[in-house]
Amino acid sequence: MTVIDGNHSSRRINLVAAAMKAEKYLEVGVADGETFFSVSIPSKTGVDPKFRFDAKSRESEGEHFCEMSSDDYFTGVARGTKFDIVFLDGLHVFPQTFRDFCNAIMFTGDNSLIIIDDTIPSDVYSSIPEVNLALATRTREGGTGAAWHGDIYKMIYAVHDFFPSLSYLTVSSRGNPQTFIWRETRRYFSPRFNSLEQISRMTWFDFQENMDLANLSPEEYAIPTVISKLLSSDFG
Ligand SMILES: C[S@@+](CC[C@H](N)C(=O)[O-])C[C@H]1O[C@@H](n2cnc3c(N)ncnc32)[C@H](O)[C@@H]1O
Repeated sequence: MTVIDGNHSSRRINLVAAAMKAEKYLEVGVADGETFFSVSIPSKTGVDPKFRFDAKSRESEGEHFCEMSSDDYFTGVARGTKFDIVFLDGLHVFPQTFRDFCNAIMFTGDNSLIIIDDTIPSDVYSSIPEVNLALATRTREGGTGAAWHGDIYKMIYAVHDFFPSLSYLTVSSRGNPQTFIWRETRRYFSPRFNSLEQISRMTWFDFQENMDLANLSPEEYAIPTVISKLLSSDFG
């Protein structure tokens, strides 16, 4: 396993992985491997329809590459595997991420962690689900930058309203926000929208009004919280 200097994602993942002694890691959406290659977990699997490196030559005992969509991976290859940490960073649209998340639940255990990237769009343009439209609209309105988060923010509301046996927080400092999700029942559960259809039609303005459900937490507080939850045997 080659470990290179990390970014905010691998820094957060490595802190949790070391504490929970994680053995199996799955990353959906790997691109050039900036995060993947700096994650320090003995067995790592990367899934991407088009890796930006020669995956065949990088294959090793600890690093496995599946050049295919996440749907093809989960339905054809994953079979029986239980991952300790799953990092979802593939196609940045709600329907695909929702399906990746449901699949990730199937391939994780009681003390596993699922991380969803890009859950807090940086501006209204970044929240547009179609990347070209997002970037063109920002430029037309005089904005700059190529940030694109898509409508993954809707995952916060889908998890909140439809997965009451999961708990979550969103790491809000020292890098792009990401939502960390683990198995722990939320005891005073009450759905806010109670409609997947309504969640799927949310806009950035609805998101602003319902930001409280993101459970924002600065990294220095969030990571120890997640670790203590994962190490606790008091789930359910
Ligand atoms: C933002 S990049 C990933 C960055 C990477 N996780 C990192 O932190 O360095 C998103 C990647 O998702 C991949 N992708 C797009 N659709 C996908 C799908 N259906 N399944 C898996 N990956 C997908 C793209 O090819 C792209 O490489």
